[in-house]
Amino acid sequence: MSEYMSSTALPLGSFAGRMAAYHMGWVDTHAQPQASSSGKFVRPSLCLWACVACGGDVESALPAAAALEWIHNFTLIHDDIQDGDRQRRGRQTVWSVWGMPQGINAGDALFALAFTNLAAQSHVPDRTLRVVRALSEATLEVIEGQCLDLQFEGRIDTTLGDYLRMVRGKTGALLGASLEAGALASGAAEDLSRAFRYAGRLLGTAFQMRDDWLGIWGDPSLTGKSRSADAKRRKMTYPTIVAYDAMSPSQRGRMRALFGEQATERDSEIRELLEEMGGSELTREAPARFARKAVNAVARTGLSKESVEKFDAMAHYVATRRR
Ligand code: IPE
Ligand code: IPE
Ligand code: MG
Ligand code: MG
Repeated sequence: MSEYMSSTALPLGSFAGRMAAYHMGWVDTHAQPQASSSGKFVRPSLCLWACVACGGDVESALPAAAALEWIHNFTLIHDDIQDGDRQRRGRQTVWSVWGMPQGINAGDALFALAFTNLAAQSHVPDRTLRVVRALSEATLEVIEGQCLDLQFEGRIDTTLGDYLRMVRGKTGALLGASLEAGALASGAAEDLSRAFRYAGRLLGTAFQMRDDWLGIWGDPSLTGKSRSADAKRRKMTYPTIVAYDAMSPSQRGRMRALFGEQATERDSEIRELLEEMGGSELTREAPARFARKAVNAVARTGLSKESVEKFDAMAHYVATRRR
């Protein structure tokens, strides 16, 4: 997959191409080859699995799988600007190397690249068009999810329903589109691709809940991300929502005071309060529950036992991953 991606990447001779290649972990900041930690390629893996599970061959889903990974990386580059994060995959984020305006350009370039490569696939135009539509619709949902994520920052009264709506957009939409696009690339019928999209969204919720756990209790040497960033931004993550829900009135008062603080310090007090409420344990179980729902949704489509088992293994990974 990585080879296919680099063969369709932006040229290193372009400024945006250099920033993108750096972000992907292929080169250093001076465009010199460097093997550093890359992404996990979860979305392409789901897409290729879906295509094969629906009876297609892997090659026919490669352009969709690559487009998904480019879109994902465009959202990461912009997300790091929006979240003010300086660390991703154990390295400096694009904006912290080249500044925010150029970071915006790097993300925009990957967004356009995703669709350029995909639209160039001319052999089965109707399938390609359906994939393009699925991916562009999902991107709009991701953006709306990101808008909600920023809107909810510091709002301790955010409900579980609000949270689920936000993560269905920011993370669920693209995982949904990963399974949907794989099915579409195989030529599967509409009802099957829709069922896959539904399952992928559930898996996306599991993915984000686990990401929220990793963002507080994960090992930065594995995640490559800071453990205090979410608390500093007063992000409304799953552990925060469920812990707040379980708090006594006086604990809620403390939490509200911490969330009312304009200053970024005191984030360790937020962590302590979350731990006091068992936020870590509460968030261990939830991703597994959503992953199970995703597996059940896939199993209901009547796929072979072997295909369902493969998906089950991926879903288990998503819900329990350490990076
Ligand atoms: C991080 O996604 C952003 C979220 C949706 C939580 P990944 O954890 O899939 O990022 P990489 O590509 O593997 O680094
Ligand atoms: C995940 O964002 C969703 C997107 C990037 C679209 P987060 O802000 O929750 O994820 P990380 O922790 O920065 O990867
Ligand atoms: Mg974010
Ligand atoms: Mg972020």
